[in-house]
Amino acid sequence: MNKEAILEEINQTKNLSSLNEVCDKYLGRQGELTELLRSLKNLSQEEKASQGKEINILKKELEEIVNQKKEELSQNGEEKKDWIDVTAPGPKPAEGHLHPITIVQRQIEDIFQSMGFSVVYGPEVETEHYNFDALNVPKDHPARDMWDTFWLKGLKNLLRTHTSPMQARYMEKNNPPLRIIVPGKVFRHEATDASHEAQFNQVEGLMVGKDISVANFQAIIEEFLKRFFGPEIEMRLRPSYFPFTEPSFEIDMRRKGRSWLEIMGAGMVHPNVFEAVKYNPKEWQGFAFGMGIDRLAMLKYNIGDIRLFNSGDLRFIKQF
Ligand code: PHE
Repeated sequence: MNKEAILEEINQTKNLSSLNEVCDKYLGRQGELTELLRSLKNLSQEEKASQGKEINILKKELEEIVNQKKEELSQNGEEKKDWIDVTAPGPKPAEGHLHPITIVQRQIEDIFQSMGFSVVYGPEVETEHYNFDALNVPKDHPARDMWDTFWLKGLKNLLRTHTSPMQARYMEKNNPPLRIIVPGKVFRHEATDASHEAQFNQVEGLMVGKDISVANFQAIIEEFLKRFFGPEIEMRLRPSYFPFTEPSFEIDMRRKGRSWLEIMGAGMVHPNVFEAVKYNPKEWQGFAFGMGIDRLAMLKYNIGDIRLFNSGDLRFIKQF
């Protein structure tokens, strides 16, 4: 048996299976070295000891070399191909997806756009003027308590408590007639629970024209709800109070066999709001509404806890 020859043979192997063959040939159960060791039993005690020792040292050495070679081959990706399959599909990049709130917001935008509404966005940091004063909510009026406000340093600016300030901002810069919706984040200084978050999302709606009435409002919202939830949806108006609308109402919806749920506040734009933006309230009228996007998403997908939206929990997010 020639050690150099065996080493050369190991060296020549180009993949794991030929290496395994060489390995079997010498070190396997029926391998040459193994056989050699077995054949020692016929020799004398001294010969057994000295030859056995020699063979065992060689065996160990070969095993080490084989293991090293094995590692090399598997690191090289085992078989090195000298050709490339240009028709093989490339590695698929991991695909992301939209957040459920974004999905729902885009559906809402699509539906209202198809009914002639423009989509506009406003600032999340607001002035007291647009968030309250221009909306007929005077300082020191108890109605301000309807919105628990995050005031910013200096108490001049705040995080908008609703998307309604965009009503005033938009009307100041645009002449009627108009139809807009304003989706976006809003903030309230409230304790959180399964149905309340300090940060959530609203869509404001505003339609102003010469003869816009509650009937127009009802028709548009009903059409929206039917397209968003399906044709069996029912809705109802309940009288309510907001400083910037008169009359004001709350809209409830109901799906087959379920109970009524409040989904938005709304009303006919208050004359004082028109006056604050220099529209003539004798000439123009319109409706406004504000609905919670998170609420709509929870109803649509049967989500039980609003806090899941911002939890960063991938098990939740990946379901959409
Ligand atoms: N801004 C009101 C709220 O957040 C909702 C609303 C919008 C009510 C427009 C009437 C008209 O509670």
